[in-house]
Amino acid sequence: MAGAIAYISRDTDGMAWRKLFTDALGPLDFRTIAEGLGNPDDIEIALAWKPRPGLLRTFRNLKMIVSLGMGVDHLLADDQLPEGVPITRIMDEGLVGQMSEYAIFWTLWHHRDIAKYAASQRARRWKPEEFVDTLHRPVGVMGLGSIGQDTAVKLAMLGFPTMGWSRTAKALPGVETFHGRDSLPKFLSRCSILVNVLPLTRETRGLLDKKLFAALPKGAFVVNMGRGAQVVDDDLLAALDSGHLAGAALDVFNTEPLPAEHPYWLHPKVHMTPHMAGYTNPRTASPGVIENVKRLRAGQPLINTVDPKSGY
Ligand code: GLV
Repeated sequence: MAGAIAYISRDTDGMAWRKLFTDALGPLDFRTIAEGLGNPDDIEIALAWKPRPGLLRTFRNLKMIVSLGMGVDHLLADDQLPEGVPITRIMDEGLVGQMSEYAIFWTLWHHRDIAKYAASQRARRWKPEEFVDTLHRPVGVMGLGSIGQDTAVKLAMLGFPTMGWSRTAKALPGVETFHGRDSLPKFLSRCSILVNVLPLTRETRGLLDKKLFAALPKGAFVVNMGRGAQVVDDDLLAALDSGHLAGAALDVFNTEPLPAEHPYWLHPKVHMTPHMAGYTNPRTASPGVIENVKRLRAGQPLINTVDPKSGY
């Protein structure tokens, strides 16, 4: 009998995954952290979202780690991660689509002045706001992995002049692309809306700081659906309070859940959601993972592997 599959997440119970795995692979030993993982030596594959640091190391026969999120910083943050065990991640077109919806939603919300119209309605005020041509609302997407690419291409299709910035060079239809640190100021200087969807790595931690905000045009709007640790919160608050930034939509935070006393909660220019921009959808995320289970057991090369050195 092949080894056990362990489902490790405090957010979801794993029942949908168990069903999809059983439907595709037949009867298997699928254990969940909620029900109990049993003997750690039985575990061959770990499907994990924010596992307790040190937990994966206790699985001495582990052959593959699967990140249940597209971001893998939650795994790489474990300084006791077992060495030599390949790390793979989900590639979830459902999650990708939700993330681009999130960016498009806030782009349109800001572009079409919906906050002002909501306030006008409550004041019984009939007041069309000044019109901004879509052609004059350039949008920039930082991070051009599968989520950033989908987001940028869809924004471009809506008619926004769309730019993308990434660490390494990328080419995308209808999107003007920039890469590398040197091109960042030029890219930022044109973004009236900035969408961040970079992976959290040593290089991107704290990247959204006072220098970056100052490089954006006055009145810019920031959407963060990457990771909270990429934002220096005090710098963002200062840029909002000084009037340099028009607002920020934040889905991710330095500490999650965000502590009740944090100024973001009641800040009039901050629009918060509780890390919901992209839910992992077992239906769309599982096929790639099931493929990897088959490959692992057949001794074939894995897909969707992560390079721990680059951090994604
Ligand atoms: C969510 O944040 C993910 O990494 O999928």
